[in-house]
Amino acid sequence: MTAALDPRAIRADFPLLAHHGDSPLVYLDSAATSQKPSVVIDALRDYYEHTNANVARGVYALAEASTNAMENARRRVARFIGAPSADEIVFTKNATEALNLVAWSWGRANLAEGDAVVLSQMEHHANIVPWQILAAERGIELRWISVAPDGTLDLSNLDVLLDGAKMLSVSAMSNVLGTFTPMRQMADAAHAAGALVCVDACQYVPHLPTSVTELDADFLAFSGHKMCGPTGVGVLWAGASYSMPCPRSSAEAA
Ligand SMILES: Cc1ncc(COP(=O)(O)O)c(C=O)c1O
Repeated sequence: MTAALDPRAIRADFPLLAHHGDSPLVYLDSAATSQKPSVVIDALRDYYEHTNANVARGVYALAEASTNAMENARRRVARFIGAPSADEIVFTKNATEALNLVAWSWGRANLAEGDAVVLSQMEHHANIVPWQILAAERGIELRWISVAPDGTLDLSNLDVLLDGAKMLSVSAMSNVLGTFTPMRQMADAAHAAGALVCVDACQYVPHLPTSVTELDADFLAFSGHKMCGPTGVGVLWAGASYSMPCPRSSAEAA
């Protein structure tokens, strides 16, 4: 039998909910950014009080400790999303930066006039604007998967949209509708058409166990700050063909 969820105990983990004016705060904007529980605030404080130094810059003990802490975090994130290697994890300041990184690095190196990128109409701005900028600069065609009245994606013409496309970049779970995208089915269709797959997993990772290999993605972006992590933490996972080995992240740190 699973234990009943105790909302009072969960609430007690979040100091801000107890320290906000006279009346109890009800916070309903976790999809934009979550509040931070005491363990996260304590870990941040502990880091600055005991470990802080510039990572990957120095060879003195404190610099080694902070670098190891960062590389251990990279390994944990890799395990958390089923990534084969910590080398494939890029820390960014949020998911918007992670998605921009795909468009600005992979996109600029691989897309030329006439190429097509497939997006859906339910994308967050973070997964639209970088591609629109690239489209305006390079003459790239943006194709749109429409949303059905029940909030799911209309995949009836997916093969037509993917025909000749170089990239499918879609959200695995809508931040507005809460609906899931049949990501694996879409990834299979994209790969069969010769396109890569970029997943905006901002809402998916906080809600479901995630495996980048099961999703068969090429890139996946999400934010730590939407899942109780500190502000200013996002993640881009880039498959092995699109990332570079990092000597320290592969070896187990002390
Ligand atoms: C689906 C989705 N994609 C991208 C973003 C942007 O995330 P961030 O605030 O980490 O840049 C959000 C934020 O709400 C989102 O819900």
